[in-house]
Amino acid sequence: MNKKDRPIGVFDSGIGGLTVLKEIMKEMPDEGTIYLGDTARVPYGIRSPETVIRYSFENTRFLFLRDIKLLVVACNTASSVSLGNIKNSIPIPVVGVIEPGAKAAVMATRNKRIGVIGTEATIRSDSYTMSIKAIDRDVEVSGLPCPLFVPLVEEGWTEGDVVTLIAERYLKEIKDKGIDTLVLGCTHYPLLKEVISRVMGEGVRLIDSAVEVAKEIKEILEIGGLKKEHKEHKDKPLREFYVTDLPERFLEIGEKFLGQKIEHIEKISVSS
Ligand code: DGL
Repeated sequence: MNKKDRPIGVFDSGIGGLTVLKEIMKEMPDEGTIYLGDTARVPYGIRSPETVIRYSFENTRFLFLRDIKLLVVACNTASSVSLGNIKNSIPIPVVGVIEPGAKAAVMATRNKRIGVIGTEATIRSDSYTMSIKAIDRDVEVSGLPCPLFVPLVEEGWTEGDVVTLIAERYLKEIKDKGIDTLVLGCTHYPLLKEVISRVMGEGVRLIDSAVEVAKEIKEILEIGGLKKEHKEHKDKPLREFYVTDLPERFLEIGEKFLGQKIEHIEKISVSS
């Protein structure tokens, strides 16, 4: 197949990466996509770096064998601990979610105080702090894990008293640091944007990595001559979904996340 016509591969530990896929589809509607959600092994955010690296390699191999032209590691946890290893293992561009979010945060901050919220593994890895400091070492970065946000979103509880109370309890610590910019450093958090924004107050700008990642992919495809050519009478772009556990729940929540029907979904195994 012509290189330009090949799909973009996206993987996440589960359903959350659909926030990134949605932005990719919005920004580049002609591009075909293959999404892999490792639903049998989610969450990655509580696991050791070694385990996350192994899972990431297995997901990468699965997608690479499907003739993708670019790989997106949509999971913040996997991007934090395994991006370098993945980049060295395949001969196509690999995009993670940390750097684009870090860049956008540095551009946005006025008082040079940035907060980052994510899973325990992401915050522990210090990946955002290192990326932000590589751009501007004078920026102060405060990281905070918010582990309950993932199951809340998975349950579809993205608003209401319970989620507001939990957000208030978590975010108090980071609010006290006087930040003016907050990175939503986890695939699930953009779905809690409204609550988080309300709790943080007007003076704090939220950075959604998903939006920044889609912009970065578009740029890489354009510069690399990999962008799919727009044709007037074209077939529908490829939209394939793979999961490592039962597809029913993914389908139900995923269609809500994406705001559209998921037509091709299959349960597969990636482990060797
Ligand atoms: N996808 C993960 C992330 O962005 C959140 C869910 C998990 O812990 O696997 O960090």
